[in-house]
Amino acid sequence: MLALVALTLFSTLSFAKTGKTIDQKLQAYIKEFEMVPMENPTPKREAVYVLGQNLFTDPLLSGKNNTNCVQCHSPAFGTGDGLPLSLGEGARGMGTMRHQASGAVLLRNTPPLYNLGVDSATHLFWDGRVSKDENGFWNTPEAGLNGADPELKDIATTLDSVLAVQALFPIATPEEMLGQGSLLTRAEAWKNVVDRLLNGVRGASYRQQFLDAFGTTDINIGHVGNALAEFQRHAFWAGNTPWDRYMKGERSVLSEEMKKGALVYFEKGQCANCHGGMHLSALDWDAVGTPQLGLPGTDDLGLYNATGKDEDKYMFRVSPLRNIAITDPYMHNGVFKNLWEVIEFYDAPEKGLMNFVWQETLTNYNTPLTIERNRENQLARLLAMAEDLPRDVKFTEEEEAQLWCFLTVAFTDQSQQAKLQGVENENPRCRPVSL
Ligand code: HEC
Ligand code: HEC
Repeated sequence: MLALVALTLFSTLSFAKTGKTIDQKLQAYIKEFEMVPMENPTPKREAVYVLGQNLFTDPLLSGKNNTNCVQCHSPAFGTGDGLPLSLGEGARGMGTMRHQASGAVLLRNTPPLYNLGVDSATHLFWDGRVSKDENGFWNTPEAGLNGADPELKDIATTLDSVLAVQALFPIATPEEMLGQGSLLTRAEAWKNVVDRLLNGVRGASYRQQFLDAFGTTDINIGHVGNALAEFQRHAFWAGNTPWDRYMKGERSVLSEEMKKGALVYFEKGQCANCHGGMHLSALDWDAVGTPQLGLPGTDDLGLYNATGKDEDKYMFRVSPLRNIAITDPYMHNGVFKNLWEVIEFYDAPEKGLMNFVWQETLTNYNTPLTIERNRENQLARLLAMAEDLPRDVKFTEEEEAQLWCFLTVAFTDQSQQAKLQGVENENPRCRPVSL
């Protein structure tokens, strides 16, 4: 107790020099970077949720009856798969035990699904290619859903959220769920899914569930998307983190180590330049020069793939950061295996891009993944890096440990804090927060 009093006194004194306590400084930054607690999702529609939960785990959504959402987005792996690059239809097993078998290596990491169902989650996918435009119309890779007068009007007007729209894409992508080599159009693939659900092996049960959920069995793939979204919205809401509680006024929920880490986040790291706002990201785009990891010869151009605009090359959506401690590995291609590697990268991103050494030997893939070092592409990545990305931070070891503690504990939802047991082995001054 005495030691605690002495420690508190000391830290108050050390900030007295600048006239502000650490809490007052953090208050000012929270305001400056428009950080607010995560909003609550819309009230849960129980029947829609239950239907969505069943659909999330049902391989009937896939063309060959062999793939469901949870194979890649497993709650045991932070709603991802724990692998750098996702493995598509034809792969076997789940999470880090997933093996490529006859599946394709997808270009990108399986992203986590936390907080994507709230209204403010405006852009989905690593490159944000699914969104709602300023007029309230969908903006997606499927022209038939987009704009004021879409060709697939029934579906477009049924869909009730960006998250619902997103769910339609894995279903209709050959390498993901539809089946490699499939030549079906998306509209055909979607029609087939609805047909399998209503008239397939579990038809009677699904007809009842759709009736309970939507009051009709006259359904289209839009209803399927809405149900999948309702499930994800509530099952994967993560707005009760120590950081949310701190912003709501519980000053003692963060330890001294975490508060110092928060200062590193705002000041030396300048992380909030991009990771501010409600989602710890404005969900807009930036290029940070993430090294290219993949099969030999690949080059992920990011947002450019969706827009074709030169200035969008190597841009990715700024990642939201709640529950970040349990969603490893990191970045659009999972090139960094833990948060220490992420911090080390941001310490000097240009060096991080040019010199990063990939040391993993993962047996999940038939061909080893490699870091692509094509000089021209590397140079283009270097030149594309955002202006507000600090190039030469020079964190001290102590600052790295503080920042690590802040990211690891303060951003983790209460329901997941138990998974952080043992973090003090990596930083003795860091501990999970108990309720
Ligand atoms: C084969 C693995 C796999 C399957 C199966 C799969 N996903 Fe994904 N999911 C991914 C990958 C990889 C991405 C990122 C793709 C990209 O950004 O280009 C992704 C992206 C997403 C996103 C966007 C996340 C974000 O932060 O923007 C959501 C939501 C999502 N998937 C939900 C689903 C749902 C619902 C299903 C089932 C209908 C599903 N996924 C099936 C691998 C998978
Ligand atoms: C210039 C904007 C910018 C700055 C500054 C920035 N980030 Fe990022 N951050 C991004 C973008 C864009 C991505 C996605 C990059 C990718 O996928 O290749 C990202 C991804 C991440 C990820 C991986 C998320 C995931 O789900 O895989 C973490 C963790 C992260 N940033 C933490 C930080 C920290 C900590 C700092 C400060 C030291 C920081 N960022 C500074 C833009 C930024």
